[in-house]
Amino acid sequence: MIWVNDSLVDSTAATVSVLDHGLTVGDGVFETVKAVDGRTFALTRHLDRLTRSARGLGLADPDHDQVREGVEQVLRANPLPLGRIRVTYTGGVSPLGSERGTDPTTLVVAIGTATRRPDTTAVRTVPWRRNEHSAVVGLKTTSYAENVVALAAANRAGASEALFANTAGQLCEGTGSNVFVVLDGALLTPRLSSGCLAGITRQLVIDWSGAEEADLPFDVLDRADEIFLTSTLRDVQAVARVDDRELTTAPGPVTLKAMAQFAERSADDLDP
Ligand SMILES: Cc1ncc(COP(=O)(O)O)c(C=O)c1O
Repeated sequence: MIWVNDSLVDSTAATVSVLDHGLTVGDGVFETVKAVDGRTFALTRHLDRLTRSARGLGLADPDHDQVREGVEQVLRANPLPLGRIRVTYTGGVSPLGSERGTDPTTLVVAIGTATRRPDTTAVRTVPWRRNEHSAVVGLKTTSYAENVVALAAANRAGASEALFANTAGQLCEGTGSNVFVVLDGALLTPRLSSGCLAGITRQLVIDWSGAEEADLPFDVLDRADEIFLTSTLRDVQAVARVDDRELTTAPGPVTLKAMAQFAERSADDLDP
């Protein structure tokens, strides 16, 4: 069962227009929210980011009560031990070009099964750059084709995530995750000015572990003592290989501590 605009419908009947601006030009924003045993994690932060992303595109503010209602109904109709809820909010039916129409926005809330990630993973660096000067920097838009291409390249190389530099050659983020490194005992993550998304997990890890934001050259990946990824579905996940470089002791001590802190604090408060 999927929520479309204002009602729950069977997945076979859940449709939006072929002229929806989200479909034709990627004029939309989204959130992925984790749900454990039918209960969401950090939903308020996700809704706030959905609004920030929508405003960045010039879309009307999404109605949080309506999104919450959709999330609740989708969770109730699809009981899952670990679910990934996808909230998609687009410009609605529009002309065929980049200009947006005047029709109402489209809201879809869907859920899929998720599996718990392994504690360690491999990542692949990719030659394509994040543009920290982009008109949509920091917005979680549905224009994710660059991420599709980069993630496929990483997967072909046996990695579960691709890591991007930005146009200045600094470490930025993954296709769907933020990155942290340990250098001389200090836990560091790229600043938002690198062009990375303001990940919700990233911010919680900063708040809970005392990690610092920094400008980091991309080649920090060649010498960092530890590396980990953060995202809604990865939580904190240690990196055991970057390209051909093995980090044989992953998860290292700093990563293990961040993992434990995240597990404990996120269990204590489901909407931090
Ligand atoms: C490009 C990008 N960076 C980082 C993240 C991690 O953000 P969060 O921790 O809010 O899931 C995501 C998440 O989905 C993302 O799409």
